[in-house]
Amino acid sequence: MKIGIVGGTGDIGEGMSRRLSSRYDVILGSREADKAHTTSECTIDLLKQRGFKSSCTGVSNQEAVSAADVIILAVPFKHLESTISGLSGFEGKIVVSPVNPMEKKDFFTIVPPPEGSAALLVNKLLPGARVVTAFNTIAANRWKDLDAEIDVAVPVCSDDADAKLVIMGIVNGTSMLKAYDAGPLAVSAMIESLTPLLLNIARYNKMHDVGIKFV
Ligand SMILES: NC(=O)c1ccc[n+]([C@@H]2O[C@H](COP(=O)([O-])OP(=O)(O)OC[C@H]3O[C@@H](n4cnc5c(N)ncnc54)[C@H](OP(=O)(O)O)[C@@H]3O)[C@@H](O)[C@H]2O)c1
Repeated sequence: MKIGIVGGTGDIGEGMSRRLSSRYDVILGSREADKAHTTSECTIDLLKQRGFKSSCTGVSNQEAVSAADVIILAVPFKHLESTISGLSGFEGKIVVSPVNPMEKKDFFTIVPPPEGSAALLVNKLLPGARVVTAFNTIAANRWKDLDAEIDVAVPVCSDDADAKLVIMGIVNGTSMLKAYDAGPLAVSAMIESLTPLLLNIARYNKMHDVGIKFV
């Protein structure tokens, strides 16, 4: 399976490539292909040092979308709409939104778009794409730190049952992540609102990279 990451040079893209590229073909996208190439080489070198093979390439965001079966939109919410609008070829593909529309004022808070959530905005902008919400609550540092397993829950929601199963399969095959079916895409508003809560918990309790578990 080919997993494309739009905005793959950022914290989440780099972290996910480290965890996923030993099992999948990861195609990192960027507005600048050279930047994505540099990030992909770093991932390959890092995994090589640890004795793992890595399939990771760096290309433009458009090339990542065109080549991938599953596309992860790893860009900040404020750049989500402009990024998507400049790309094409999402029809029929699984498009994953880990995007959390939030702001930090005195504390972190959710600032959803009129559609209700970032994923619902993606769903509106990309008719024909199979939109799934996942990975919203895993801190980038946890993806990056290959010395530690990531032992947290991952709520996943979508209106496309098969697409949801594909993403839950990727989740359950990665480190110690455990996927939970959270229902239809409308639930994305609740999933996205978990992250500002986790950041407030981390801040007020002097914790780092707080995750969630369901018991
Ligand atoms: N960081 C976390 O711990 C975390 C955890 C869970 C979910 N998320 C979500 O995952 C998404 C990515 O987070 P991140 O921390 O990886 O973000 P980030 O590092 O701040 O940015 C990711 C990438 O977005 C691209 N980008 C930056 N400015 C842009 C612009 N003006 N137009 C288009 N693309 C632009 C950049 O790629 P190029 O310059 O290469 O194009 C950048 O590397 C966010 O929506 C966030 O809510 C983050």
